[in-house]
Amino acid sequence: MIVAKNIQKTFSNHKVLKGIDLHIKQGEVVAIVGPSGAGKTTLLQIISTLDIPDLIPEVSLKINNISPIGLKDKKLAAFRNQHIGFVFQFHQLLPEFTALENICIPAYIANKKKAEVQKRALELLSFLGIKNKAHNKPSQLSGGEQQRVAVARALINQPAIVFADEPSGNLDTQSADNLHQLFFKLRDEFRQTFVIVTHNETLANMADRKLVLKDGNLVL
Ligand SMILES: Nc1ncnc2c1ncn2[C@@H]1O[C@H](COP(=O)(O)OP(=O)(O)OP(=O)(O)O)[C@@H](O)[C@H]1O
Ligand SMILES: [Mg+2]
Repeated sequence: MIVAKNIQKTFSNHKVLKGIDLHIKQGEVVAIVGPSGAGKTTLLQIISTLDIPDLIPEVSLKINNISPIGLKDKKLAAFRNQHIGFVFQFHQLLPEFTALENICIPAYIANKKKAEVQKRALELLSFLGIKNKAHNKPSQLSGGEQQRVAVARALINQPAIVFADEPSGNLDTQSADNLHQLFFKLRDEFRQTFVIVTHNETLANMADRKLVLKDGNLVL
């Protein structure tokens, strides 16, 4: 599913990632943990194609057997749209659109049929327990509900992998627990793969695997 070799990242002479190797299988929930500044977000952004690693000869990254490194803007955008879902700490929903519309946007970008997309979006909203909020705008949703909409948006195109950076960082304990349970429910029902950066110890301990980053290296 994801195979990464020798991922390094240097920001103006500061080597933040020093050579990371990873292998993540379908249906795994993997947590990336470590102290602030360890390079977790940097690593997630690289393996999720939002950033590029140092272009050294030994580097390689494959997602679904495709190497995104070197894809040009349009092809990269299409690759992300098709294969990858994102959930961020701040949900980044579009405020002027309803929950349902926000969820559908990535599928419209992929030119999928409107009726089918809306049907799937409503199924996802049901699965996430917020079908009755389909026509609410983000400002009319609680933080936990907004984050569930963001998860549905990440799932609409049936991506191979969902990447999340501190998805529950902004939620109260109860909403965070609900969101975490949702990740595992999605994994159990659909074999959805998740790679999640988190400071939440409960979530990290629930994960199938915990990758600990320290000073730019993975430690065991
Ligand atoms: N665009 C950038 N330019 C320069 N330095 C950066 C950039 N992005 C991150 N860094 C540096 O890289 C290091 C790792 O940052 P990163 O955001 O990956 O940490 P993190 O592990 O996600 O931390 P946190 O838990 O606080 O979110 C930090 O020292 C940060 O200052
Ligand atoms: Mg971070």
